[in-house]
Amino acid sequence: MTNLSKITCIEDLRVLARRRVPRMFYDYADTGSWTEQTYRANTADLQKILFRQRVARNMEGRSTATRMTGQDVAMPVALAPTGLTGMQHADGEILAARAARRFGVPFVLSTMSICSIEDVAQEAGPGFWFQLYVMRDQDYLERLIARARDAGCTALVITLDLQILGQRHRDIKNGLSAPPRPTLLNLLDLATKLRWINGMTHTKRRQFGNIVGHVKGVKDASDLGAWTEKQFDPTLNWDAVARIKERWGGKVILKGIMEPEDARLAVECGADALIVSNHGGRQLDGAPSAITALPAIVDAVGSDIEVHFDSGIRSGQDVLRAWALGARGTYIGRAFLYGLGAAGEAGVTKALQIIHKELDLSMAFCGHTKIEGVDQDILYPGTFPTTP
Ligand SMILES: Cc1cc2nc3c(=O)[nH]c(=O)nc-3n(C[C@H](O)[C@H](O)[C@H](O)COP(=O)(O)O)c2cc1C
Repeated sequence: MTNLSKITCIEDLRVLARRRVPRMFYDYADTGSWTEQTYRANTADLQKILFRQRVARNMEGRSTATRMTGQDVAMPVALAPTGLTGMQHADGEILAARAARRFGVPFVLSTMSICSIEDVAQEAGPGFWFQLYVMRDQDYLERLIARARDAGCTALVITLDLQILGQRHRDIKNGLSAPPRPTLLNLLDLATKLRWINGMTHTKRRQFGNIVGHVKGVKDASDLGAWTEKQFDPTLNWDAVARIKERWGGKVILKGIMEPEDARLAVECGADALIVSNHGGRQLDGAPSAITALPAIVDAVGSDIEVHFDSGIRSGQDVLRAWALGARGTYIGRAFLYGLGAAGEAGVTKALQIIHKELDLSMAFCGHTKIEGVDQDILYPGTFPTTP
């Protein structure tokens, strides 16, 4: 067991994860596309937003509890869908889902997970949501949706910003694959990651659990690369999204919205929520930070749909900033992956505890005891983005 008592912020978890996770998987998480301009802007722009400190207000009886698409949550934070999470740490998706359930926040399982939907369902709580990448293979898509429903997923998160893949230089240079290929460089790196190897030798889950064995012709990792590259559907459009929504029949959250026009289309499509997101700066480099895009989208949709937010959150203060600008839920990607890579389930719990504490205390310093009462008034004029 790792002693986490000296870990006080998400940055501490990142530093520990970098020591413990094989380079190709650490780089996969801690990277953006092309010049990484958007990746950097996501965090930098959040930090520019300042708070108004209020004093001599009763700070007792605080609560960060609220609801995201009808789901009770201990704070407006969910674990974002992230591919290959079971490569940051053995059985990563199962451990993260368990940590999320125990903390009382939703866990979103990626289509590109290592642990399968069925494996994760055993450990997930009522906030078990499934993220769908729309694939060309319609039979596979049908079965995937049915599997998510049968496994008890209560919302479908459809990702719209990855019909094609943004180029991430480091993944190409590292020859990213799951499991890693036994090249000299990989073996040298793995020789320094014995804790990770030990975890991997004790699990059978080392390939994409939602795909391998569920698709004709994909039996192992070598068939998989070619299949996945062909499968992301570049023809995806709003009609197809509406059809998937109908087929699913439950709550639908549309992920990757950056423009008010697209937000209106999400409303017309009948989605229950949308996520303002640029995929953590991993897709269109040169796009603005997600927090810059948030206010105009909140204005464009009013109360027609719940607006959620991700990309760049590294603290509870960032959650508070997004909430104050109208997001009624947020997602953390790297912040929980660093925790997972650093110390498995305990590391994810630690990441959630850090974020909760920062959110709770910052809310109080701004003069509020209930997150649901917080609005834009807590932000310092002139420091936050507004609708252009
Ligand atoms: C390593 C990694 C893998 C990701 N995989 C997926 C995925 O499979 N599906 C998806 O919709 N988003 C994926 N994302 C994007 C996240 O869901 C989320 O939008 C992003 O991480 C938010 O930014 P943050 O990491 O700064 O919090 C991934 C992000 C990372 C860092």
